[in-house]
Amino acid sequence: MRESRPVIALDFPSFEEAKEFLALFPAEEKLYVKVGMEIYYAVGPEVVRYLKSLGHSVFLDLKLHDIPNTVKSTMKILSNLGVDMTNVQAAGGVEMMQAAREGLGDKGILIAVTQLTSTSEEQMQECQNIQTSLQESVIHYAQKTAEAGLDGVVCSAQEAKLIKQATHEDFICLTPGIRPRGTEAGDQKRVVTPGQAYQIGSDYIVVGRPITQAADPVAAYHAIKEEWTQDWV
Ligand code: C5P
Repeated sequence: MRESRPVIALDFPSFEEAKEFLALFPAEEKLYVKVGMEIYYAVGPEVVRYLKSLGHSVFLDLKLHDIPNTVKSTMKILSNLGVDMTNVQAAGGVEMMQAAREGLGDKGILIAVTQLTSTSEEQMQECQNIQTSLQESVIHYAQKTAEAGLDGVVCSAQEAKLIKQATHEDFICLTPGIRPRGTEAGDQKRVVTPGQAYQIGSDYIVVGRPITQAADPVAAYHAIKEEWTQDWV
C-alpha cells in the first residue's frame, strides 16, 4: 500500500529546531515524519507524543536489535506511544523479529533493516563474515523478514523490485536516498528521484535534507510530493 506523503526525516539535534521546522507548515497539513535516534535520544518519547498530538503520522526509526524478550517488551511500550511505523534490524533473527511483531501487535507497521546502505560488500564479508554478494544478503534478510511476519524492509529503491519478487507484491519497500531532480546528492551515494522511486516500486520514500535544508521547506515538500505521485493511477 503506497503512501502518497513523502516521509520527512526529522533529523534535528534539538526539539526546538524540530518544532520550528514543523511550524512552517499550516496546521491542517498532516505530515508523515521519521523520528530517528538523534532526536529520540535527545528528547525522549515526548517527541512522539508531541507529533501525534499535532495529528502527524510517525515512523520511529530506532532499528532495535537485542534479545527477543527485550525487543518484545520494548515494542509493547512503543505500541502505547501510538507510532504508525517502527523497525528492527533483521540481523537480530527470525525469533527476534517475531517477538517484535508480538510486542507491537497490530498497532503499527513493522519493518526491518537488512544491510545498512553504509555497509559495503567488502565490509560485510570481512566484518560480518557473510560470504555472498551484498545483494544476496539483502534479499536473504528480506525473505527472513517476510517469514517472521513483518510488513517490509528499509531498502535502496534500486533493490525494491528484486525484494518484491523474492517476497510478495505487498511487501513494503521504504526507501531513503531520494533526491529531487536537479539537487545535491550530499553524502548519499546511490540516489534516485521521487519519480524513479515510484517507477521502480517504492511504497514509501524518506526525504530529509532536500526538504529540511531547503530555502522554502514547504514548497520543497510539495514539489517532491508532486514528483512522487504525478504518475499514480
Ligand atoms: O537527508 P537525507 O534525505 O539523506 O536523509 C535520509 C534519511 O534516511 C536520514 O535520516 C538517514 O539516516 C536515513 N537513512 C538513509 N539510508 C538508509 C537508512 C536510513 O539515508 N539506508
